Amino acid sequence: MRGKARRVWLAGCSAWPQKNRVSDPDYIPSSIARARNIADLRHMARERLPRMVFDYIDGGADDEMTLERNVSRFRDIELVWDALANVSDIDTSATIMGAPSASPFFISPTATSRLFHPRAGELAVARAAHSAGVPYACSTLASTSVEDIAAANPGTKWFQVYVWRDRALVTEMLARAKAAGFSAILLTVDVPVAGNRERDSANDFTIPPRVTWRTGAQALAAPHYLWDLMTTPEIRPANFAHMKIDGGLIGFINAQFDRTVTWQDARWLRDSWDGKLAIKGIATPEDAQRCVSIGADAVWVSNHGGRQLDTAPATIDTLPRIAEAVAGAAEIILDGGVRRGSDIVKALALGANAVAIGRAYLYGLAAGGERGVRRAIDILDGELRRTMALCGRTRLSGLTRDLIFRRTLS
Ligand code: FNR
Ligand code: LAC
Repeated sequence: MRGKARRVWLAGCSAWPQKNRVSDPDYIPSSIARARNIADLRHMARERLPRMVFDYIDGGADDEMTLERNVSRFRDIELVWDALANVSDIDTSATIMGAPSASPFFISPTATSRLFHPRAGELAVARAAHSAGVPYACSTLASTSVEDIAAANPGTKWFQVYVWRDRALVTEMLARAKAAGFSAILLTVDVPVAGNRERDSANDFTIPPRVTWRTGAQALAAPHYLWDLMTTPEIRPANFAHMKIDGGLIGFINAQFDRTVTWQDARWLRDSWDGKLAIKGIATPEDAQRCVSIGADAVWVSNHGGRQLDTAPATIDTLPRIAEAVAGAAEIILDGGVRRGSDIVKALALGANAVAIGRAYLYGLAAGGERGVRRAIDILDGELRRTMALCGRTRLSGLTRDLIFRRTLS
């Protein structure tokens, strides 16, 4: 090859690898199947969604310090390995709150999934979880009813609750969840008031979205999304379809959130439900022990993905002391910042029995509906298996603290 043709060939060769660099912010996979990692799914979600919806998923409270820390503190932890261990048979199967799971992670409850993919919504997430063999947790504020979700997912389902001002409403929801086959409830305790999400106010974002020049311009820039939104039923808290709700989701939260809730109410909930109970949003060993003393089956270490109290520590940093205090009296679940299979290994090595994922599957949902959620699950499961093999451990019970080389903070 000579002259111009050669120059073009060489320019092509040097440009091609650039496009595939993980750090390249412009790399966007051409299809769900080509998404290599959760970061790729996030790029795809950002491309597809109106900015206000992407920011609602991606953002956190105040200065987003906790949001960032949840992720970065995983990166500060280094892993070592056993050399020459036979790793021909990796087994990731787990039991989480009495339910079998193909992997030690599951779908964390997130409000209004139809907002992220108006056509797919909770049904797509529930189906993907079932086909992958991992539990699905449904938010109280879901945009699909528990009965419809149950019809789509005959597998393990859990239901997230708050103690509402109207206790009769809570009791009624528990009965509906039980009748629909939900086997555990998850009481979220880190939302005594709504967190301050400044990306949302900058975007004029509300659920359901209201039309302002800013939201209108953002929606017009995402025509696929807008079409889906306009041709599907209105997005609202579907479990409360029979109630008249003013002011959208936030109006509902403000009307129903009870700031007087205490451990006595958690005990009342324990007594009102004869299935498994997890308490989600625990940050201290003392509160973890309170969970155990009221009879919770699982202590869920979480800061709501950095969406509530900013400046809270990363969950991976609060985990070890909580696990020590619980000392096997209840299971330990961790969420917050899980974006790689190696994060799951680190959480289990530091005392968690299982991990919940939030944004990781929401990026997949926004990028490609059910297939996108399934891709997110498969990516994490594949990374988990590879990390286990590289660490020389074939069973989840083998993921122990000696794999952690150095932690810069305890
Ligand atoms: C949430 N989360 C949440 N938790 C909950 O108990 N009830 C809810 O309705 C919601 N809604 C919700 C919406 C969105 C968009 C996000 C991102 C998160 C918190 C969620 O269950 C989980 O604790 C975090 O998402 C975990 O952090 P990562 O995995 O997103 O970093
Ligand atoms: C959130 C609430 C709804 O994190 O839990 O957006």
